[in-house]
Amino acid sequence: MSAFLKACRGEPADHTPIWLMRQAGRYQPEYRALREKVSFIELCRTPDLATEVTLLPVEQLGVDAAILFADILLVLEPLGIGFEFTASDGPHIADPIRETAQIDGVAEEIHARESLGYVLQTVRQVKAALAGKVPLIGFAGAPFTLCSYAIEGGGSRDYRHTKRLMYQDPGAFSELMRKATTAVIEYMNAQVEAGVEALQVFDSWVGCLSPADYLAHVQPHMKRLFMELDSSVPHIHFGTQTATLLELQRDAGGDVIGLDWRVDLGETWERLGVESVQGNLDPYALLAPREELKRRADAVLHSAGGRPGHIFNLGHGLFPQAEVDQVRALVDHVHEASAR
Ligand code: CP3
Repeated sequence: MSAFLKACRGEPADHTPIWLMRQAGRYQPEYRALREKVSFIELCRTPDLATEVTLLPVEQLGVDAAILFADILLVLEPLGIGFEFTASDGPHIADPIRETAQIDGVAEEIHARESLGYVLQTVRQVKAALAGKVPLIGFAGAPFTLCSYAIEGGGSRDYRHTKRLMYQDPGAFSELMRKATTAVIEYMNAQVEAGVEALQVFDSWVGCLSPADYLAHVQPHMKRLFMELDSSVPHIHFGTQTATLLELQRDAGGDVIGLDWRVDLGETWERLGVESVQGNLDPYALLAPREELKRRADAVLHSAGGRPGHIFNLGHGLFPQAEVDQVRALVDHVHEASAR
């Protein structure tokens, strides 16, 4: 079994596996060249191209897992929440969900095999091309992160529209969360059926909530999500700015808990008492001189203390200005420093 899947199960491996969120993206010259010819959404919708992009970091960096090239927002379309990716400032939702009545219009079922068939086709093509070299991770956005995007209509600093709905009409908010959860379960299980060997749930924005609000408005849906996800593959439960929510996230489910750089990995691992954790180098450590980058990677490895069940990753995604050489040096260094 691969080092990555062993670590997901808390089993010892001959080195600490590493992959990087957003390991395919604009920091790569090859990716930028492709994007001059096709839009981001076209890339996602064209299995041949999405496959090529998924494989790039595996070949170039030697990471221990591939992650499907797609976006968490793709599932909004079959839910009936239209969006577009603008060239300048990312995804935009023309008609964000602000009124309770709009929630009735959100689809009860997404029929993922048809509506997101292009993603599933990419999974099959990537799997064939990888031929077992490294495992393929599938993913989806967590219900809260998806719903907050649909409500805010884009990125947000304060999530005030989301909180307004949550506080003014908790029943309506819960109904939207329920529909998003149903969709994510169906979509992720279809990815497993198509061949992904692990699933990561991205709750990137849930850190804006208090523990009490997470408990009341998010955790019940997350519990249902993890209960209903295909358990033949490991589940990675990831969020950022979640230091105060980690116990509640752990209780919601997931075999591996994702940690951002704001917490000490070893201490938090101990505190949570889980088998496996993923993380947690500050992505911007890649801007430090090479030796400092290595020192910081060593600090993460040292914090993990060589315990089985650590998957090395950044605390959040790679950023467009990262240098490919630095990223490759990080991957090589983690492999060398953790070799047993
Ligand atoms: O790790 C991976 O590479 C998997 C693929 C993935 C992408 N986005 C590809 C992508 C994943 C898991 C995401 C997550 C995502 N996407 C989130 C969760 C927050 C997070 O970062 O964890 C959100 C809110 C989105 C929606 C989204 N997609 C935004 C806000 C943007 C614009 C900002 C940006 O970085 O460009 C995107 C575009 C996007 N998604 C790109 C990539 C590689 C860049 C597309 C491009 O311009 O070429």
